[in-house]
Amino acid sequence: MAKLHVITYGCQMNEYDSERVAGLLRGERYELTDDEAQADLILVNTCAIREKAEAKVFSKLGELRALKARKPELVIGVMGCMAQLHQETIQQRAPQVDLVFGSPAIARVGDLVQRVRRGGRPVLETGEGPLVKITARPPAARRLKAFVTVMEGCEKCCTFCVVPTTRGRERSHPPEAIVAEVRSLAAEGCREVTLLGQTVNAYGRDLTPPTDLAELMARVGDVDAIERIRFTTSNPYNLTSKLIRALRDLPKVCEYFHLPLQSGANRVLERMNRGYTREGYLELVDRLRDAVPEMAFSTDLIVGFPGETEADFGATLDMVERVGYDNVFAFRYSRRPGTLAAAMPDQVADDVKASRNTRLLEVVNRVTAARSRRLAGRTVEVLVDGTSRKNAGELSGRTRCNRVVNFDGQGRVSVGDLAWVRVTEALPHSLRGTLVERPEEAACLSK
Ligand code: SAH
Ligand code: F3S
Repeated sequence: MAKLHVITYGCQMNEYDSERVAGLLRGERYELTDDEAQADLILVNTCAIREKAEAKVFSKLGELRALKARKPELVIGVMGCMAQLHQETIQQRAPQVDLVFGSPAIARVGDLVQRVRRGGRPVLETGEGPLVKITARPPAARRLKAFVTVMEGCEKCCTFCVVPTTRGRERSHPPEAIVAEVRSLAAEGCREVTLLGQTVNAYGRDLTPPTDLAELMARVGDVDAIERIRFTTSNPYNLTSKLIRALRDLPKVCEYFHLPLQSGANRVLERMNRGYTREGYLELVDRLRDAVPEMAFSTDLIVGFPGETEADFGATLDMVERVGYDNVFAFRYSRRPGTLAAAMPDQVADDVKASRNTRLLEVVNRVTAARSRRLAGRTVEVLVDGTSRKNAGELSGRTRCNRVVNFDGQGRVSVGDLAWVRVTEALPHSLRGTLVERPEEAACLSK
């Protein structure tokens, strides 16, 4: 068999796509290798969300150029968001690339690789294509926790974001196809699924008949072997009362909500075209916590969006404190080609972005550490997923609120089990605990 090496940058959706591509190419007699020097075909799955992500890809392509110089028969392909956004530019800047294809062409990857092999000429395939649910997976992809893409694309027009350009319009996969995929994952030992979409809470509105995320999660929850359901990313704009009720009523859906805020200042939110206000967001958080008191929130924040003042930035810091996030992903604003914000006149200087980023992280560390400390002394449900990174004698897993817990359970519980652990120590980034009998009513996130 020929050898395939896949390098993945960016989001979970890219990880999912890479796995699908590896699965499809297995049908073309390519097996995965971890060693790029051994590969006959190298695919680089790219991210275009920020300039830094792109720079990493170009530097990797530079390294691969040297590899190809030593091994001319090597085929190099670029897929994912940069393929869609930059198309010809990639082949100009990196002529060693033989194949460039966007997400809609993934289903045809086998043909595309053959075309390169036969023609000896570069192939560019970045047009629209029909939505196909690809469920092929390489054998190595059998695992306890899996991502499942439930919809592609995004139709919001956030002024900073390239995703609507790179991933196209919003298209949902039919619930039957998703449930079938989850069943097959469960049959291979999967216990936790994360349903993926750029605006996953808008799922299903484009289908006939229309459906929604609440109904989808109920159907996924009917798959017996699945113990936990997660979903990401949600947009506050599309958050319905029905979804909030589902989070309360569906026992397998975890108490962890990734709800990107982006900025805490209304004037910035408006210029970002996010479609909600800080007051509206806080009200959603209150309603979610009323329905699910243990709900943990995580978010994405951008610092240095064009025109962001000190006062605007202060409003973002204030929101971090008010919401009390469990986890925050902070990004410095990056100017993206073709977006409205890139053309805004009042761009913020890099040193200001850097200092705001540092100040934001200080507040984030304090707030998230305080959230972690809340769990000290409590008994939490843990899905055991391996051994502790620092101590192979200890097991490790995650709570429903997505915190890492290391605990002494070797020989009594094993990977894939749900265990009940009393938290003895709450460190900022992980918890330590000790295995206990299943309690009547476990605190934190076990229902
Ligand atoms: N669909 C998601 C966002 C996907 S992009 C949503 O609704 O929010 C992931 C994150 O990258 C975004 O939430 C945003 O915080 C960040 N991001 C997107 N474009 C960016 C840019 N131009 N500069 C900096 N961060 C950006
Ligand atoms: Fe990007 Fe906004 Fe969609 S952040 S992915 S355009 S919801």
